[in-house]
Formats: sequence, C-alpha cells, structure tokens
Amino acid sequence: TKIAVFASGSGSNFQAMIDAVEAGNLTAEIALLVCDKPGAYAEKRAEEAAIPIFSFSPKTYSGKAAFEQAILTELQRHGVEWVVLAGYMRLIGPTLLKAYEGRIMNIHPSLLPAFPGLDAIGQAFDARVKVSGVTIHFVDEGMDTGPIIAQEPVRIEENDTREDVQHNIQAVEHRLYPQTIQQVINNGGGA
Ligand code: GRF
Repeated sequence: TKIAVFASGSGSNFQAMIDAVEAGNLTAEIALLVCDKPGAYAEKRAEEAAIPIFSFSPKTYSGKAAFEQAILTELQRHGVEWVVLAGYMRLIGPTLLKAYEGRIMNIHPSLLPAFPGLDAIGQAFDARVKVSGVTIHFVDEGMDTGPIIAQEPVRIEENDTREDVQHNIQAVEHRLYPQTIQQVINNGGGA
C-alpha cells in the first residue's frame, strides 16, 4: 500500500512512520513526501530514508487549485493510494479532496472538537484543562474537522510545563499515528 506524507515542519510524525515501516509495524510504502516549505527538516528525514520528495513553494503558483493539481500529478505518478497529513499547515482544497475522498488522514494534538487550529497544545495548557490528547481523523474541507478515527487522552498534571505537555502529547502521536494508519489500511478505508 503506497502512502504519501504531507509535512511543513520538523516531521517527527513522519519519522515515526519511517521507523514503523522499517520495524515492520507499518506494512506500507511511504512513496512520497509532499512539503510546502522547501528546506523544512522533514525533507532531511526523507533524504535519509531515500523517500522521494515533492517540494514546492505555494507562492510560485496562481493559487491552491494550481498547486494541488501539481501535487495530484505527483501522487498519481507515484501510485499513491492514501494521503497522511503530518504537520501540513494548510487546508486541503477541492482538487485533492475529490481525488482522494475518504483517503486523507490528519493528526491533531488535542481531543477534537476541543482546541482546533493553531497551537492546540498551547490552547489546552492556557485553558488549564486536566486532560487533552491526540486525535486522528479523516479530512474534509474544514479546519480539523471530519470523521474521527482514533483518540487518546493525555493527562496534564498540576506541575507540568508547556514543554512537558508537548513532550507527552508527541510521544502519544508517534505511537498512535503509525498504528492507526495500519488499521485504516487494513480496513480498506472509508469513515
Ligand atoms: C503535530 O503535533 C501534529 O499533531 C500537528 O502538527 C505537529 C507536527 O509535528 N498537526 P511534526 O512535524 O510531526 O514534528
């Protein structure tokens, strides 16, 4: 099963998938990294793992339809069946949604629908909630909306710093995402 990972930043979730594939815990081929931030650390990880990269600057295109069409051409050229967003900092538009309906997943560092959008960990920390967590969901046209596939709570203790919370949430992400991707692939998709 060929998957593409979309990332804009550090790509620690992407790395967790690479590691899971190498360990035999994720029986997929990561056929392509799509990155909208040329030079992002995620690209280094792809190079290390000999994964092809489609790196692009959105501003060099006329708009979202144009760069998504370019992405789509690459996905099809690599035979990609599933799209996995891992810190891809943009909304997916109609071009990709139509082509990969029910086959795009995202991970978000909160228990959705609480704390959607940017800096969900900071939002949860500032709200002093006792429990936050991680959500993996299918992607629709909204921001951090769409059918939920998996969730796991993470407790926030009285003395936790923001960094502690971030560390604890990321540790759950790195375990839960590869595991959930495997389950979705096994089930053949759909919400
Ligand atoms: C993760 O916390 C993910 O939940 C969110 O963006 C972050 C990406 O981190 N969507 P990384 O690039 O995988 O390290």
